[in-house]
Amino acid sequence: TRSVRLALLGCGTVGSEVVRLLHEQAADLTARIGAPLELAGIAVRRLGRERGDLPVDPSLFTTDALSLIKRDDVDVVIEVVGGIEPARSWLIESLRAGKSVVTANKALLAEDGGTLHAAAAEGGADLYYEASVAGAIPLLRPLRESLHGDRVTQVTGIVNGTTNFILSSMAATGAGFDEALEEATELGYAEADPTADVEGFDAAAKAAILASLAFHTRVTAADVFREGMTGVTAGDMASAKEMGCTIKLLCIAQRGSGVEGDTVSVRVHPAMIPLSHPLAGVGDAFNAVFVEAEAAGPLMFYGRGAGGRPTASAVLGDIVAAARNKLTGTRAPSESNYASLAVRPIGES
Ligand code: HSE
Repeated sequence: TRSVRLALLGCGTVGSEVVRLLHEQAADLTARIGAPLELAGIAVRRLGRERGDLPVDPSLFTTDALSLIKRDDVDVVIEVVGGIEPARSWLIESLRAGKSVVTANKALLAEDGGTLHAAAAEGGADLYYEASVAGAIPLLRPLRESLHGDRVTQVTGIVNGTTNFILSSMAATGAGFDEALEEATELGYAEADPTADVEGFDAAAKAAILASLAFHTRVTAADVFREGMTGVTAGDMASAKEMGCTIKLLCIAQRGSGVEGDTVSVRVHPAMIPLSHPLAGVGDAFNAVFVEAEAAGPLMFYGRGAGGRPTASAVLGDIVAAARNKLTGTRAPSESNYASLAVRPIGES
């Protein structure tokens, strides 16, 4: 049998764990797919960085991502670089050429997912992105496939690990925001620049992706009302506690109805929730997403939403799906036919 050949774009925290898992699980992956997976190349920004501990031939590294994805022998492109450009150009190029894409890029999907899905339809290629929201938690596939016979009414989630760590620590110790952020940074949860996390940009991108899938429409990050959690004080947390509540940074996506038909509203903000709420007990850097559907009722998804290895687990699942589809000539569910529901800005009724 022929092998399925992979181009890996990016070899940081997530990329290096993808390389390790591909190596560790090689025999099982081959059995599951029916053909071996083979790394055709790994594109990195700079050569010569210490990557000696990775179980991979050093000659696979290149700084020329574009030439790598254009190679005829590449079947699946895996993007774990992040950011809008050059990732967008690379992925559009790959999809149009019929190469399946597996990506963890929430910012790109939330800003311009429609363009990527159109390129996938054009090239007859798959676009998989389970790792872009809530890391290891199998969440997008249930929304994208398992719940397609149902009607999702609301998605409520904690989708940012860094801020959940900070708020959980404030609730547990009475610490203020600055002190809790310092602890999160020391433990390696918060990034050197935590703006995207604490100001809610990361959660808003994830909320847009979830709302798009839940409601079969195209919601972008710009449609999401966003308020960060830097204004939450130790005093706010103490008052919440007195009322039997806690404060979480929530993303809330709701289906509603207006005069012109169905509407969707999506928001991210700190919210006070009773301690009895299923999301109140989600501590540490964990993520959890509560989905409500008409026939299914309430569903709860919980697990590690960040970190190299948990995120790589979701990437690997997508690689297996894309590789299988390549071999059998099947396709991922299409999203190029999404309707455009009116996105109702918060505060407008
Ligand atoms: N900064 C993100 C978080 C990483 O803290 O959840 C995972 O997307």
